[in-house]
Amino acid sequence: MSSRKKLIAGNWKMNKTPADGVALVRDIVAAIGKQSDVEVVVCPPFTALESVGKALEGSNVKLGAQNMHHEASGAYTGEISAAMLRALFATHVILGHSERRSYFGENDEFINKKVITSLKNQLKPILCVGETLAERESGSTLKVVQRQVEGGLEGVSKEQAPTVVVAYEPVWAIGTGKVATTEQAQEVHAFIRGLLVKLFGDAVAQKVRILYGGSMKPANAPELLAQQDIDGGLIGGAALEARSFVDLVNAATAAK
Ligand code: 13P
Repeated sequence: MSSRKKLIAGNWKMNKTPADGVALVRDIVAAIGKQSDVEVVVCPPFTALESVGKALEGSNVKLGAQNMHHEASGAYTGEISAAMLRALFATHVILGHSERRSYFGENDEFINKKVITSLKNQLKPILCVGETLAERESGSTLKVVQRQVEGGLEGVSKEQAPTVVVAYEPVWAIGTGKVATTEQAQEVHAFIRGLLVKLFGDAVAQKVRILYGGSMKPANAPELLAQQDIDGGLIGGAALEARSFVDLVNAATAAK
């Protein structure tokens, strides 16, 4: 039991046209659009943000983006600013996803700039951290996670910190069907909570949501969500269908 409201966020990655996205959120809204026990966020690709945002109007489901650039405007071909996301009524933005880190070379310093910019623009960052299989096998999981959390949150104030969401996503569990055991996940979540205590003090650290991500499904969610420091999920594959996403929201409701 904790005082933190559970959060279920769907990361659609590079999936869904605007029409597909609208159809998906219509089903999600019909099933859980009015509940307020669990915070629910969907993160479509940029091209579907506007139409999905319109389809969410009047519901409690929030809109998030999957990335953004830290500069306000200018010659950054292919990039999107915080103000552009705000103009489409996005409230959240995923930053530092492992796919951004590994395929697009994003490092902690660059991700930190985005975190700072998102907070300045009243966008809630969902900062992703997590080790690769090689890092876990060599025993450096906690060291890697510490570097990513401290690097990503550098310069974030105590006042801003409660709006930050951290997502622990072990890279070896993403899209592989290999979920971390509850013990593996809770160990890292508790470690992240400890880092947040050091950075922001205990009272603030207790307010920060730490999500688990990596092959989270309705079948494994109840056990994960029952852990003391697991405050929700960042969902990939299971967020692409209304039935499984709604079941995950219901699992979070039952676990609250
Ligand atoms: P899967 O749920 O498909 O493993 O993806 C997790 C993820 O990367 C969410 O950001």
